Amino acid sequence: MRALREQIMRIADSDAAVAIVGESGSGKELAARDLHAHSRRGAHPFIAVNCGAIPEALMESEFFGHRRGAFTGAHEERSGFFQAAHNGTLFLDEVAELPPSMQVKLLRALQERSVRKLGGQREEPVDVRIVSATNRDLSDAVRRGEFRQDLYYRLQVIELRMPPLRDRREDIPLLSETILHRLARSRQPELSADATAQLCAYDFPGNVRELENILERALAMAPDQTIEAADLQFEPALQRPASAGAGVRDGHASDALPLHLPAYLRGVEQALLRRALRQARFQRTQAAQLLGISLRQLRYRMQRLSIDEYD
Ligand SMILES: Nc1ncnc2c1ncn2[C@@H]1O[C@H](COP(=O)(O)OP(=O)(O)OP(=O)(O)O)[C@@H](O)[C@H]1O
Ligand SMILES: [Mg+2]
Repeated sequence: MRALREQIMRIADSDAAVAIVGESGSGKELAARDLHAHSRRGAHPFIAVNCGAIPEALMESEFFGHRRGAFTGAHEERSGFFQAAHNGTLFLDEVAELPPSMQVKLLRALQERSVRKLGGQREEPVDVRIVSATNRDLSDAVRRGEFRQDLYYRLQVIELRMPPLRDRREDIPLLSETILHRLARSRQPELSADATAQLCAYDFPGNVRELENILERALAMAPDQTIEAADLQFEPALQRPASAGAGVRDGHASDALPLHLPAYLRGVEQALLRRALRQARFQRTQAAQLLGISLRQLRYRMQRLSIDEYD
C-alpha cells in the first residue's frame, strides 16, 4: 500500500494520462481521487464518468455539451463533462465500455485539447487531465479490434496497477483497522488475532470492497468491542468450493480447511505484533516484553511483515 501511495505521489504532478488497471473492488476510483487531490489540479473539479452507464445516443452531448436546439429536447445550451472538468481531472471509469463511435470523438478531443458542443461551430479549448480505469485487459480488447489502438496509447501513458488484495495480504490488517475506524464512529472495535488471521488467509475475489462488506457485517454481529473469527461471514457463493461443507458452520469459515497456512500464520503474528506495539504505545522494548521475545527479534519480525511505527 505504501509503495502504491508513493507511486501515486510521484505521478500526481504530471499532466500525463494515467490508466488504472485492477480487479473489481481493488480501489481504482479511490486511487484516481487520490491522484487528483495530490495534483496541482486538486482545487479544481474531479469529474467521474462511468463510460458503461451512458446510452450511446446521449454520449456525445454528455461528454462535449450541446447548443440549444441541437436535437429534439435540447431546450438550453449545456456544457459536457470536458468543460465541467476544465483545469481539473476527468475520470473515465470502465473505459473499455466506450462504443467505437465515441472512441473516435474522444481521441479527437484529446489530440486537439478542445471540444465542440453538439450543434455548435466553435471549438472550446479545455485543459483536463485524463485518468481512466478498467477491470478488463484493454490491450486484449485492442488485439480483438474492440478498442482503438491510437486511443489506447493516448490513455495508457502511465499505467497504475492495483494489485488484488490476495497478492498483498500484508495490507489486510492495516486496511481492516482503517475501514473499521471509518465504519464504527463511536466504538473502537478491534479484531481478534484469529479473526485477523482468517482475513489474511481469505482470497477476496471482491477485493477491498468485499473486505469492507465483511467488516460491516461483522460489526453489526459482534456484541462487544472485539470482533471474533465467528463474527466474520465470508460470501457463501464466493467461498472456496473445497471449504463448502467441510468445517463451514452457519456461514462461518472459522478454522475451516483448506486454508492458506503461511498467510494465516503471518496474519496471527501480524495481529499480535500490532496489538503489542499499540498496547506499549510503540515502545518497542516494552512491546517485545509483552510478546516474550527480544527487541532484536521484534525488529526482525516487524521488518519481515513490513510493520513500522507509522502504521
Ligand atoms: N486503501 C484503501 N483504504 C481504505 N479503503 C479502500 C482502500 N482501497 C479501496 N478501498 C475501499 O474499497 C471500496 C472499493 O474501492 P473502489 O471503488 O475505489 O474500487 P474500484 O476498483 O473502483 O472497484 P470497481 O472495479 O468495482 O469499480 C471503496 O469503498 C473504497 O473506499
Ligand atoms: Mg470503480
